[in-house]
Amino acid sequence: MKPEMYESYYGLTKTPFSKTIAPSQLFIHPGHDEVVARLTQVVRGKDIGLLTAEVGCGKSVALRALSESLDAPRHTIVYFNGLADLRGFYLQLISTLGGCPEYLRANLVRQAKELIAAQISERRKNLVIMVDEAHLLSTQLLEELRLLTNEAMDSTSQFALILSGQPMLRQKLNLTQLMALSQRVSIRCRLKGLALEETAGYIRHYLSLCGRSDPLFSDDAIALIHSSSAGIPRRINNLAVQSLTAGFLEQKGIIDESSAKRAVAEMEAN
Ligand SMILES: Nc1ncnc2c1ncn2[C@@H]1O[C@H](COP(=O)(O)OP(=O)(O)O)[C@@H](O)[C@H]1O
Ligand SMILES: [Mg+2]
Repeated sequence: MKPEMYESYYGLTKTPFSKTIAPSQLFIHPGHDEVVARLTQVVRGKDIGLLTAEVGCGKSVALRALSESLDAPRHTIVYFNGLADLRGFYLQLISTLGGCPEYLRANLVRQAKELIAAQISERRKNLVIMVDEAHLLSTQLLEELRLLTNEAMDSTSQFALILSGQPMLRQKLNLTQLMALSQRVSIRCRLKGLALEETAGYIRHYLSLCGRSDPLFSDDAIALIHSSSAGIPRRINNLAVQSLTAGFLEQKGIIDESSAKRAVAEMEAN
């Protein structure tokens, strides 16, 4: 079913619970705030920080919020997502820092180090390297990142490194080969699922962004969405959309528990 059908039925001005939400429109909850505050400390201290959470909890959202909050003229942010290999890492790093990547690997490393040093000494910028989905990185790549920070920290150049990924990233850092990196991580933070009251606030927030500030979901519908989603935002989004669809199909004025039940059954079946 097309979203427009339930949107107009429920008087929504746009598609609710969409993936692309502007940082200024985020639902601000204490867990999110704390992560952004602690990662800001990582940036200020030019440290290494670790953010872990299950899929859909808001890690990428938090990294985007952090990027937006940093004073643009004073920071250069290099954001990696699903980094595949060492070469890819250096190519993106060099291009983002305004260089034209050389061909040989040894040259790439040297070039990257020079560009990092130039950012800091000539351009007086704080460099922040964010690696999202970092649990996918090989041990070799993680170790290379550490060497790069080490190298830089021996001289005047320094940068902040933020590793974000699924909980297995923590286990990965416990590997003997990554002990040196693990010891350098100065701030570790996690995002958890929202509490019941937060899930309610989250749903209300998204609906009000679409022009419905009055209660559209009943309390028991929210409670069911909360328990079925474990308060994980991406799951809440999916269940809320399915509930709206179910409510529309039954021509209901309010999304009640039976619409939410239908949504849960729908999600479990697919
Ligand atoms: N604070 C928030 N405000 C609004 N939406 C959020 C928030 N946190 C998460 N979301 C929603 O949840 C989805 C998943 O978040 P995301 O950061 O992509 O999760 P992760 O990176 O942990 O897998 C986002 O696309 C967004 O729709
Ligand atoms: Mg993500």
